[in-house]
Amino acid sequence: MATFDVIIIGAGPGGYVSAIRCAQLGLKTAVVEGRDTLGGTCLNVGCIPSKALLHATHNLHEVHENFEKMGLMGGHPTVDWPKMQAYKQDVVDGNTKGIEFLFKKNKITWLKGWGSIPEPGKVKVGDEIHEAKSIVIATGSEPASLPGVEVDEKIVVTSTGALNLDRIPETMVVIGAGVIGLELGSVYARLGAKVTVVEYMDKIIPGADGEIIKGFQRILARQGLEFVLGAAVQGVTVQDGKATVTWKANKDGKDSSLTADTVLVATGRKPFTEGLGLEALGVEMLPRGMVKIDDHFRTNVPGLYAIGDCVPGAMLAHKAEDEGMAVAEILAGKHGHVNYGVIPGVIYTTPEVASVGQTEEMLKEAGRAYKVGKFPFMGNARAKAVFQAEGFVKLLADKETDRILGCHIIGPAAGDLIHEVCVAMEFGASSQDLALTCHAHPTWSEAVREAALACGDGAIHA
Ligand code: NAI
Repeated sequence: MATFDVIIIGAGPGGYVSAIRCAQLGLKTAVVEGRDTLGGTCLNVGCIPSKALLHATHNLHEVHENFEKMGLMGGHPTVDWPKMQAYKQDVVDGNTKGIEFLFKKNKITWLKGWGSIPEPGKVKVGDEIHEAKSIVIATGSEPASLPGVEVDEKIVVTSTGALNLDRIPETMVVIGAGVIGLELGSVYARLGAKVTVVEYMDKIIPGADGEIIKGFQRILARQGLEFVLGAAVQGVTVQDGKATVTWKANKDGKDSSLTADTVLVATGRKPFTEGLGLEALGVEMLPRGMVKIDDHFRTNVPGLYAIGDCVPGAMLAHKAEDEGMAVAEILAGKHGHVNYGVIPGVIYTTPEVASVGQTEEMLKEAGRAYKVGKFPFMGNARAKAVFQAEGFVKLLADKETDRILGCHIIGPAAGDLIHEVCVAMEFGASSQDLALTCHAHPTWSEAVREAALACGDGAIHA
């Protein structure tokens, strides 16, 4: 039996980041992980492999759509699917091995196997029991199933299977127009599949800013994605290697169906907390297996903490990372804190979609007086030069104080551009602060400044 200051269960972005910070702060740290590689869903079967496929297919799109416009002739590559998959695996391996290196560098013990908590202060891995002053649950989430749908990860797949298809499907139905559905739907549309997205709500990415939703759907439709909105999927049947999805229209109850080579079920994720023994420990839980915590990531069991996808809040790798660092600081006797009002969200399609803070709809509902500064990438020289002038930056600021309340971007590198607004918001900046900051020309980030200018006396290039 080994004794640690802290044992973290789960080596995803929440767990591994927390472990590194714990070790940096002088705590004797171990991480329990049952996968063969570190990094959790994000690095193994989520963010990282999907970004590899998005990058590869974005380049394919560029060759086909834009190369000749720039005088780059003769290149019409075909797709070697096994090779693209191998590239994706290389990217995954490089990243998971990188975490292993960081564990060694920080002297973090990797307890290999699936862990459970037989009693407070103890973690069981295989036949061994280890002791710790504090235990952090960072076990993440898994795809949520849908009634009437049986996933086989070959024809009817979750994001995990969709990243590992044995061939490029000719037709694909995506259930759910959320982040996973649209990112992976885009990948396969660019690879030539006819992709139809069936969504329960009457809009895509429910919860996003209304103008973003409209603009994004228009752009995706131009890229070939088809949408069936307001449709509740009832079930999926598989026959002769194909799957048929049936749905009921919300407005008139009419039944419809569509048959495809592959069906991607992307209707959300749920906390992965089964098998930890939380019920026997008496840990207070929320619906769907979510762990209840207080403002300091404490469960109701002394010495037991939880972070990331298995606790309330956005299921995002970077939210889990921030909570991981914050709980480490708390365990080391410092003041860990996460500002949940400034957590960006990014959809890695082309163009990217990024947002932070409040949407216009939220502000209206709260009855808050606000102003909008909007700037289209059409007015941005750099975006025009690289065929990425679709989309816009929309900045929302308080009408009286001018304090920035939110930002929503569709456009090139939106996922990077959003961070200057995040920093501004952390500092409680006004839109004028952004507008008065010199931005290099020609860059995409000028569009953010122009949106800030549009909150005041007006954008220059609009
Ligand atoms: P999601 O919650 O983003 O979207 C699920 C969609 O499915 C919703 O629009 C919902 O209305 C729809 N839906 C639910 N039941 C349905 C039914 N019976 N018929 C038709 N539509 C139905 O979930 P998603 O995309 O699966 O992602 C899971 C989690 O992973 C999310 O929290 C997401 O933020 C996170 N994620 C984030 C990424 C990023 O930040 N780039 C990438 C991938 C995942």
